[in-house]
Amino acid sequence: MKPTILLDCDTGIDDALTLLYLASLVKEGHAELAAVGTVHGNVPADIGAFNTLRILELAGLPAVPVAIGAAAPMAGQARYAYGFHGADGLGDTNLPEPYGSPVDMSAPDQIIRLARSRPGELTLLAIGPLTNLAIALLLEPSLTGLVRQVIVMGGALEHPGNVTSHAEANVWHDPEAAELVFNAPWPLTLVPLDATHPTAMDGTWLDRLAAGDTTTAQLATRILAFYVNAYRPLLDARGVVIHDALAAMLAIDPSLAEYIERPVRVELHGEHTRGTTLWDGRRGADQGHRPPLKVAVRADVREYQERLLTSLL
Ligand code: BDR
Ligand code: CA
Repeated sequence: MKPTILLDCDTGIDDALTLLYLASLVKEGHAELAAVGTVHGNVPADIGAFNTLRILELAGLPAVPVAIGAAAPMAGQARYAYGFHGADGLGDTNLPEPYGSPVDMSAPDQIIRLARSRPGELTLLAIGPLTNLAIALLLEPSLTGLVRQVIVMGGALEHPGNVTSHAEANVWHDPEAAELVFNAPWPLTLVPLDATHPTAMDGTWLDRLAAGDTTTAQLATRILAFYVNAYRPLLDARGVVIHDALAAMLAIDPSLAEYIERPVRVELHGEHTRGTTLWDGRRGADQGHRPPLKVAVRADVREYQERLLTSLL
Protein backbone atom coordinates (compact mmCIF):
# COMPACT_ATOMS: atom_id res chain seq x y z
CA MET A 1 0.00 0.00 0.00
CA LYS A 2 1.34 3.46 -0.96
CA PRO A 3 2.04 5.32 2.34
CA THR A 4 0.40 8.67 3.02
CA ILE A 5 3.02 10.70 4.89
CA LEU A 6 2.50 13.63 7.23
CA LEU A 7 6.00 14.97 7.83
CA ASP A 8 7.00 16.90 10.96
CA CYS A 9 10.45 18.51 10.62
CA ASP A 10 12.89 21.30 11.53
CA THR A 11 14.41 22.06 8.11
CA GLY A 12 17.59 21.84 8.52
CA ILE A 13 20.07 20.34 6.03
CA ASP A 14 19.28 16.64 6.45
CA ASP A 15 15.57 17.51 6.66
CA ALA A 16 15.97 19.30 3.30
CA LEU A 17 17.62 16.21 1.79
CA THR A 18 14.72 14.16 3.17
CA LEU A 19 12.22 16.48 1.49
CA LEU A 20 14.06 16.02 -1.82
CA TYR A 21 13.99 12.24 -1.33
CA LEU A 22 10.27 12.25 -0.46
CA ALA A 23 9.54 14.47 -3.46
CA SER A 24 11.18 11.94 -5.76
CA LEU A 25 9.11 9.13 -4.19
CA VAL A 26 5.93 11.15 -4.68
CA LYS A 27 6.75 11.89 -8.30
CA GLU A 28 7.44 8.19 -8.94
CA GLY A 29 4.10 7.28 -7.33
CA HIS A 30 5.61 5.45 -4.33
CA ALA A 31 4.23 7.77 -1.62
CA GLU A 32 1.85 10.63 -0.99
CA LEU A 33 3.07 13.66 0.98
CA ALA A 34 -0.18 14.88 2.56
CA ALA A 35 1.26 17.82 4.51
CA VAL A 36 4.28 19.10 6.41
CA GLY A 37 4.49 20.73 9.86
CA THR A 38 7.54 22.46 11.29
CA VAL A 39 8.89 22.70 14.81
CA HIS A 40 11.69 24.52 16.65
CA GLY A 41 14.97 22.60 16.52
CA ASN A 42 17.72 23.12 13.98
CA VAL A 43 16.20 26.57 13.34
CA PRO A 44 13.08 28.44 14.59
CA ALA A 45 9.81 26.83 13.46
CA ASP A 46 8.87 29.70 11.10
CA ILE A 47 12.28 29.69 9.40
CA GLY A 48 11.93 25.91 9.04
CA ALA A 49 8.54 26.39 7.37
CA PHE A 50 9.93 28.84 4.80
CA ASN A 51 12.89 26.52 4.17
CA THR A 52 10.42 23.66 3.65
CA LEU A 53 8.41 25.73 1.16
CA ARG A 54 11.61 26.65 -0.70
CA ILE A 55 12.65 23.01 -1.05
CA LEU A 56 9.18 21.74 -1.96
CA GLU A 57 8.84 24.40 -4.66
CA LEU A 58 12.28 23.66 -6.10
CA ALA A 59 11.43 19.94 -6.00
CA GLY A 60 8.19 20.51 -7.94
CA LEU A 61 5.72 20.02 -5.06
CA PRO A 62 4.44 23.59 -4.47
CA ALA A 63 0.93 22.49 -3.42
CA VAL A 64 1.85 20.53 -0.29
CA PRO A 65 0.48 22.44 2.74
CA VAL A 66 3.11 23.57 5.25
CA ALA A 67 2.04 24.52 8.79
CA ILE A 68 4.18 26.25 11.42
CA GLY A 69 4.21 24.48 14.79
CA ALA A 70 5.68 24.90 18.26
CA ALA A 71 8.18 27.72 18.68
CA ALA A 72 9.54 26.32 21.95
CA PRO A 73 9.80 23.05 23.87
CA MET A 74 7.35 22.04 26.62
CA ALA A 75 9.86 23.14 29.27
CA GLY A 76 12.67 25.68 28.94
CA GLN A 77 13.73 27.61 25.88
CA ALA A 78 14.37 26.76 22.25
CA ARG A 79 18.00 26.29 21.26
CA TYR A 80 19.08 26.10 17.64
CA ALA A 81 21.80 24.27 15.72
CA TYR A 82 23.18 26.96 13.41
CA GLY A 83 26.67 25.51 13.72
CA PHE A 84 25.51 22.38 11.89
CA HIS A 85 22.91 23.81 9.53
CA GLY A 86 24.08 27.38 8.83
CA ALA A 87 22.47 30.69 9.81
CA ASP A 88 19.63 30.12 7.30
CA GLY A 89 19.26 26.42 8.14
CA LEU A 90 20.15 25.45 4.59
CA GLY A 91 23.92 25.71 4.78
CA ASP A 92 24.01 29.48 4.14
CA THR A 93 22.90 28.95 0.55
CA ASN A 94 20.52 31.94 0.72
CA LEU A 95 17.98 30.31 -1.57
CA PRO A 96 15.31 32.68 -2.97
CA GLU A 97 12.13 33.38 -0.99
CA PRO A 98 9.36 30.87 -1.68
CA TYR A 99 6.29 31.90 -3.69
CA GLY A 100 3.91 30.18 -1.27
CA SER A 101 3.14 30.80 2.41
CA PRO A 102 2.46 28.58 5.41
CA VAL A 103 -1.19 27.59 5.90
CA ASP A 104 -3.32 29.36 8.48
CA MET A 105 -3.33 26.48 10.96
CA SER A 106 -0.83 25.27 13.55
CA ALA A 107 1.14 22.08 12.89
CA PRO A 108 -0.47 20.19 15.83
CA ASP A 109 -3.95 21.19 14.55
CA GLN A 110 -3.00 20.03 11.09
CA ILE A 111 -1.96 16.63 12.48
CA ILE A 112 -5.29 16.25 14.31
CA ARG A 113 -7.44 17.42 11.40
CA LEU A 114 -5.74 15.18 8.87
CA ALA A 115 -5.80 12.17 11.19
CA ARG A 116 -9.53 12.67 11.81
CA SER A 117 -10.31 13.10 8.13
CA ARG A 118 -8.24 10.09 7.06
CA PRO A 119 -8.44 7.65 9.99
CA GLY A 120 -6.00 4.76 9.88
CA GLU A 121 -4.20 6.12 6.81
CA LEU A 122 -1.43 8.44 7.98
CA THR A 123 2.22 7.64 8.51
CA LEU A 124 3.40 10.32 10.91
CA LEU A 125 7.09 10.82 10.11
CA ALA A 126 8.84 13.01 12.72
CA ILE A 127 12.40 14.14 11.99
CA GLY A 128 12.64 17.02 14.44
CA PRO A 129 11.91 17.55 18.16
CA LEU A 130 8.61 15.97 19.17
CA THR A 131 6.77 19.04 20.52
CA ASN A 132 4.09 19.13 17.79
CA LEU A 133 3.27 15.44 18.22
CA ALA A 134 3.09 15.81 22.01
CA ILE A 135 0.76 18.83 21.75
CA ALA A 136 -1.44 16.97 19.26
CA LEU A 137 -1.63 14.02 21.69
CA LEU A 138 -2.60 16.31 24.56
CA LEU A 139 -5.28 18.00 22.45
CA GLU A 140 -6.60 14.75 20.97
CA PRO A 141 -5.70 11.63 22.99
CA SER A 142 -7.56 9.38 20.52
CA LEU A 143 -4.91 10.36 17.94
CA THR A 144 -3.10 7.15 18.93
CA GLY A 145 -5.86 5.14 17.25
CA LEU A 146 -6.26 7.43 14.25
CA VAL A 147 -2.82 7.11 12.63
CA ARG A 148 -1.46 4.06 10.87
CA GLN A 149 2.07 4.35 12.24
CA VAL A 150 4.59 6.80 13.69
CA ILE A 151 8.26 6.88 12.63
CA VAL A 152 10.63 9.03 14.69
CA MET A 153 14.27 9.90 14.00
CA GLY A 154 15.66 10.38 17.47
CA GLY A 155 17.47 8.99 20.48
CA ALA A 156 20.71 7.10 21.07
CA LEU A 157 20.49 3.79 22.93
CA GLU A 158 23.90 2.15 22.75
CA HIS A 159 25.56 4.89 20.74
CA PRO A 160 26.98 8.15 22.13
CA GLY A 161 24.78 11.24 21.90
CA ASN A 162 25.41 14.04 19.43
CA VAL A 163 24.57 17.04 21.64
CA THR A 164 25.75 15.73 24.99
CA SER A 165 27.63 12.53 25.79
CA HIS A 166 24.31 10.63 25.92
CA ALA A 167 21.59 12.78 24.33
CA GLU A 168 20.60 12.93 20.66
CA ALA A 169 19.46 16.32 19.30
CA ASN A 170 15.76 15.70 18.54
CA VAL A 171 15.13 14.26 22.02
CA TRP A 172 17.46 16.73 23.78
CA HIS A 173 15.56 19.71 22.29
CA ASP A 174 12.35 18.60 24.05
CA PRO A 175 12.74 15.63 26.42
CA GLU A 176 9.25 16.05 27.96
CA ALA A 177 7.62 15.83 24.53
CA ALA A 178 9.68 12.76 23.60
CA GLU A 179 8.72 11.01 26.85
CA LEU A 180 5.04 11.67 26.15
CA VAL A 181 5.27 10.43 22.57
CA PHE A 182 7.28 7.29 23.48
CA ASN A 183 4.79 6.39 26.22
CA ALA A 184 1.68 6.73 24.04
CA PRO A 185 -0.09 3.56 22.89
CA TRP A 186 0.54 3.81 19.14
CA PRO A 187 2.72 1.77 16.77
CA LEU A 188 6.00 3.71 16.91
CA THR A 189 9.27 2.94 15.16
CA LEU A 190 12.30 4.75 16.54
CA VAL A 191 15.32 5.37 14.30
CA PRO A 192 18.13 6.40 16.68
CA LEU A 193 21.77 7.32 16.10
CA ASP A 194 22.60 3.61 16.55
CA ALA A 195 21.07 3.08 13.09
CA THR A 196 21.76 6.44 11.42
CA HIS A 197 25.33 7.24 12.38
CA PRO A 198 26.92 4.17 10.73
CA THR A 199 25.29 5.20 7.42
CA ALA A 200 27.69 8.17 7.02
CA MET A 201 28.19 8.95 3.33
CA ASP A 202 31.83 9.26 2.30
CA GLY A 203 33.65 11.48 -0.22
CA THR A 204 32.98 9.07 -3.09
CA TRP A 205 29.21 9.24 -2.48
CA LEU A 206 29.41 13.04 -2.35
CA ASP A 207 31.41 13.13 -5.59
CA ARG A 208 28.87 10.90 -7.35
CA LEU A 209 26.09 13.24 -6.18
CA ALA A 210 28.04 16.33 -7.30
CA ALA A 211 28.54 14.76 -10.75
CA GLY A 212 24.77 14.52 -11.22
CA ASP A 213 23.39 17.08 -13.65
CA THR A 214 19.81 17.22 -12.34
CA THR A 215 18.45 20.24 -10.45
CA THR A 216 17.92 18.05 -7.39
CA ALA A 217 21.47 16.68 -7.38
CA GLN A 218 22.94 20.16 -7.78
CA LEU A 219 20.71 21.61 -5.07
CA ALA A 220 21.55 18.76 -2.69
CA THR A 221 25.29 19.24 -3.30
CA ARG A 222 25.01 22.98 -2.69
CA ILE A 223 23.11 22.52 0.58
CA LEU A 224 25.41 19.75 1.79
CA ALA A 225 28.65 21.76 1.47
CA PHE A 226 28.19 23.41 4.89
CA TYR A 227 27.26 20.07 6.50
CA VAL A 228 30.43 18.45 5.11
CA ASN A 229 32.52 21.05 6.95
CA ALA A 230 30.49 20.63 10.15
CA TYR A 231 30.94 16.84 10.05
CA ARG A 232 34.67 16.82 9.22
CA PRO A 233 35.89 16.85 12.85
CA LEU A 234 33.31 14.22 13.86
CA LEU A 235 34.05 11.77 11.06
CA ASP A 236 37.72 12.69 10.74
CA ALA A 237 37.12 12.61 7.00
CA ARG A 238 35.01 14.19 4.26
CA GLY A 239 31.49 12.90 4.75
CA VAL A 240 28.00 13.52 6.15
CA VAL A 241 25.34 11.69 8.13
CA ILE A 242 21.90 12.22 6.59
CA HIS A 243 19.98 10.97 9.64
CA ASP A 244 16.47 12.00 8.67
CA ALA A 245 16.37 10.38 5.23
CA LEU A 246 16.99 6.95 6.79
CA ALA A 247 13.82 7.34 8.88
CA ALA A 248 11.93 8.33 5.72
CA MET A 249 13.26 5.32 3.82
CA LEU A 250 12.33 2.95 6.65
CA ALA A 251 8.81 4.41 6.62
CA ILE A 252 8.53 3.22 3.03
CA ASP A 253 10.56 0.02 3.31
CA PRO A 254 11.08 -1.25 6.89
CA SER A 255 12.96 -4.30 5.59
CA LEU A 256 16.12 -2.19 5.27
CA ALA A 257 16.84 -2.40 9.03
CA GLU A 258 16.96 -4.80 11.97
CA TYR A 259 14.87 -3.95 15.03
CA ILE A 260 14.60 -4.64 18.76
CA GLU A 261 11.17 -4.26 20.39
CA ARG A 262 11.48 -2.68 23.83
CA PRO A 263 10.09 0.27 25.81
CA VAL A 264 12.25 3.41 25.73
CA ARG A 265 12.32 6.06 28.47
CA VAL A 266 13.66 9.61 28.40
CA GLU A 267 15.77 10.95 31.28
CA LEU A 268 14.18 14.23 32.32
CA HIS A 269 16.19 15.19 35.40
CA GLY A 270 19.86 14.24 35.23
CA GLU A 271 22.33 17.09 35.48
CA HIS A 272 24.52 15.54 32.78
CA THR A 273 22.02 13.12 31.26
CA ARG A 274 18.82 15.10 30.59
CA GLY A 275 17.45 14.06 27.20
CA THR A 276 19.11 10.64 27.23
CA THR A 277 17.07 7.74 25.85
CA LEU A 278 17.24 4.56 27.94
CA TRP A 279 16.09 0.98 27.67
CA ASP A 280 16.50 -1.96 29.99
CA GLY A 281 18.54 -4.49 28.06
CA ARG A 282 18.99 -6.95 30.93
CA ARG A 283 17.91 -10.47 30.06
CA GLY A 284 14.48 -11.14 31.59
CA ALA A 285 14.11 -7.55 32.85
CA ASP A 286 10.57 -6.58 33.84
CA GLN A 287 9.66 -4.06 31.10
CA GLY A 288 6.65 -2.76 33.07
CA HIS A 289 3.52 -1.56 31.33
CA ARG A 290 5.04 0.89 28.89
CA PRO A 291 4.40 0.20 25.22
CA PRO A 292 7.36 -1.39 23.43
CA LEU A 293 8.83 0.66 20.58
CA LYS A 294 10.24 -0.92 17.45
CA VAL A 295 13.80 0.40 17.56
CA ALA A 296 15.96 0.25 14.42
CA VAL A 297 19.38 -0.87 15.59
CA ARG A 298 21.14 -1.57 12.28
CA ALA A 299 20.43 -0.50 8.72
CA ASP A 300 21.53 -1.92 5.38
CA VAL A 301 24.06 0.86 4.82
CA ARG A 302 24.91 0.14 1.19
CA GLU A 303 21.29 -0.18 0.10
CA TYR A 304 20.33 3.02 1.94
CA GLN A 305 23.17 4.99 0.39
CA GLU A 306 22.50 3.70 -3.13
CA ARG A 307 18.74 4.27 -2.98
CA LEU A 308 19.14 7.80 -1.65
CA LEU A 309 21.76 8.64 -4.27
CA THR A 310 19.63 7.21 -7.08
CA SER A 311 16.62 9.25 -6.03
CA LEU A 312 18.65 12.47 -5.75
CA LEU A 313 20.23 11.87 -9.15
C1 BDR B 1 18.77 15.00 14.18
O1 BDR B 1 19.07 16.30 14.71
C2 BDR B 1 19.03 17.28 13.70
O2 BDR B 1 20.16 18.10 13.74
C3 BDR B 1 18.93 16.54 12.40
O3 BDR B 1 18.14 17.26 11.48
C4 BDR B 1 18.31 15.22 12.77
O4 BDR B 1 16.91 15.29 12.74
C5 BDR B 1 19.98 14.11 14.33
O5 BDR B 1 20.32 13.97 15.66
CA1 CA C 1 15.76 17.11 11.61
